[in-house]
Amino acid sequence: MPHKRRKSITCFVISRLDGIIYFTIKAYPKGGPFNFYGSFANHYPTYNLCENHFTRFIMNETAALARIQELTDKINYYNHQYYQNSISEITDFEFDRLLNELTGLEKEFPRFQQPDSPTKRVGGTVTKGFSTVKHRYPMLSLGNTYSEQELIEFDTRIRKMIGDDFQYVCELKFDGVAISLLYQDGVLTTAATRGDGVRGDDITHNARTIRSLPLSIRQGARDYPAEFEVRGEVFMPLPVFEQINAAREDIGEASLANPRNAASGTLKLQDSGVVARRRLQCFVYSLMGENLPFQTHSASVAQLQQWGFPVSPTYQLCGGLNEVFGYIQKWETERFNLPVGTDGIVIKVNDYAQREELGFTAKSPRWAIAYKYKALSANTELLDIEYNVGRTGAVTPVAILKPVLLAGTTVRRASLHNANEIERLDIHQGDSLFIEKGGEIIPKVTAADLTKRKQGSQPIQYPAECPACGTPLVRQEGEAAHYCPNERNCPPQSKARIEHFIGRRAMNIENLGPETIEQLFNKGLVITPADLYDLTEEQLTGLDRMGKKSAQNVIKALEASRSVPFNRVLFAIGIRFVGATVAEKLANHFLTLDAIRQATFSELVAVPEIGDRIAQSIGNFFAEPANVAYVDKLARAGLQMQLERKEVTRESEKLSGKTFVVSGIFANYSREALTEKIEANGGRILSGVSAKLDYLLAGDKMGSSKLQKAEKLGVKVISEADFERILNE
Ligand code: IVH
Repeated sequence: MPHKRRKSITCFVISRLDGIIYFTIKAYPKGGPFNFYGSFANHYPTYNLCENHFTRFIMNETAALARIQELTDKINYYNHQYYQNSISEITDFEFDRLLNELTGLEKEFPRFQQPDSPTKRVGGTVTKGFSTVKHRYPMLSLGNTYSEQELIEFDTRIRKMIGDDFQYVCELKFDGVAISLLYQDGVLTTAATRGDGVRGDDITHNARTIRSLPLSIRQGARDYPAEFEVRGEVFMPLPVFEQINAAREDIGEASLANPRNAASGTLKLQDSGVVARRRLQCFVYSLMGENLPFQTHSASVAQLQQWGFPVSPTYQLCGGLNEVFGYIQKWETERFNLPVGTDGIVIKVNDYAQREELGFTAKSPRWAIAYKYKALSANTELLDIEYNVGRTGAVTPVAILKPVLLAGTTVRRASLHNANEIERLDIHQGDSLFIEKGGEIIPKVTAADLTKRKQGSQPIQYPAECPACGTPLVRQEGEAAHYCPNERNCPPQSKARIEHFIGRRAMNIENLGPETIEQLFNKGLVITPADLYDLTEEQLTGLDRMGKKSAQNVIKALEASRSVPFNRVLFAIGIRFVGATVAEKLANHFLTLDAIRQATFSELVAVPEIGDRIAQSIGNFFAEPANVAYVDKLARAGLQMQLERKEVTRESEKLSGKTFVVSGIFANYSREALTEKIEANGGRILSGVSAKLDYLLAGDKMGSSKLQKAEKLGVKVISEADFERILNE
């Protein structure tokens, strides 16, 4: 059927099949009409067929190759953000759209398919490969209220149905991620997220890393039912959240928005090792099962505690609404002293028989309700916006506020995160702003008070140039932050690099605060961290507020830093995206800085958990002569540029002379444990698959390129079970 006719060109859609639209274009030039047949995948970023743009969707090979590369990079980037950094920058729908587009293009242009295309990862990171489990009892939600009046109505409804003889239990409403934990014969067998309430993601492996959750019920406890389900809330404690954000700052990455997102992102990580390091916690608040011997919620919660489950001691039995109101009042401010974000309280009828009488509505129980605290807010004047330039050149706008008291603390500053946020809030110069403190401690700007906006006030213009050095700012596609690209000569970046270098987790040089660094930098004594090692006691005593004793301490600390282990030196050097953990991985793998410097991109990405972005960044760093000069100077200063390998205790010589590459995820061992096991039995680990490799020890979710290479080179591919067999032979 003709779609539309324009300028003597008609377009017919013939069919749609498997994501591809086949079409005909009929043109009517002077010499008579001719047909042009073509096809395009319906997910190309194309336009309206009828807008006479048709030449744009007949993808030629060059365009297809470019688009395949662009999509591959994008998907890899979003995958990295999602799995390594717990940031969902795009919705699942958008992600799937990109993946479908790539799949379609690869199908149409198979020769452009990369061996390590993200479409090829077996059930792995791309497909967000968690299996789902059906909940035995649906995971419902709670009715919410912000008003005391509605609580009175809730109470009245209950009294009408069950009379006046009942008790409530009040609990805090923890702001985390709901979890269901199934115990069979006292052992945790399945952990699942809420999902859509009927089915959730099976996150058993990750839940097992939550130390406060018992993997099996305490020894000696004999009184547990054969099967029961526990529900609770997983959260990231605020101090952990702050540490993670500090570590992200270390590598110049945007901070995670809030602990709730951080917890939920962490639970969905593929690598349980990373989950374990995120130190999630859990509070449980309900026990379910068939024929359980408890009559009340408070009795089952007390029993859960007995069995070793983490129960928050903040719950309270309440005789009636007045006590409930007392509880609400008590926790309105005290909740800010807890290590977990809370956004309200949950009021539950205590007695199970009475709960049954009350029953459920379609979505929630009639026997419980959530009372949400209103976020505490204040109104104050915007005095200025400061644009802070970090170590990697990332610019962060910070609102400087007229000091205002909010929930017990004076707020003077609030991060505005990036240009998008300023635009979203539509902030004008001199505006009056609403500041809120929600379940978390960090105050945030929620809106501008339009009623107080001064006439003629101008919207905030994000600076085009670096406020410190005047270099035009850049913003990479897909990134929210602006960067100052003047790495070498932008003073705050240089100073921040020195501060990073001396930090506690890096070279740990005490007695050098930001003010001393400022002076050293301004006097031209220390421009790169390596210059610290040229400092003399005299130069130091010449600084303001630096006595002889302090100067001697600085020199001593610099001296001592010469024995700081290589992994920390590598972190201190300050390569973008190389945080403390990545530095440790690289150091353990390559052992020397020289080896890292000479490693190719593929050798770098062959290291577990080193992705494209990190590898790229390392390559870029060493491609810069100034950086090479800087690390050479550090080496000349006598810093540790190689790792002292701890001696592994030899168990046997069974693997003597044999080489291994370990890749993927294993059921019984971590990759590190396998590496140690191999070395303890005389084997050697190689960094990549090559003809001289004896065994590729392949776990789940291993990249297909390694496998293909091993098969091509005739390298033996063995499983974890094969490995154990070899060891036990
Ligand atoms: S009881 C029928 N107790 O709030 C649901 N939930 O909107 C019974 N939550 O999905 C849930 N703290 O994730 C309950 N002390 C608490 C809670 C709590 C947080 C969350 C939970 C649930 C949501 C209900």
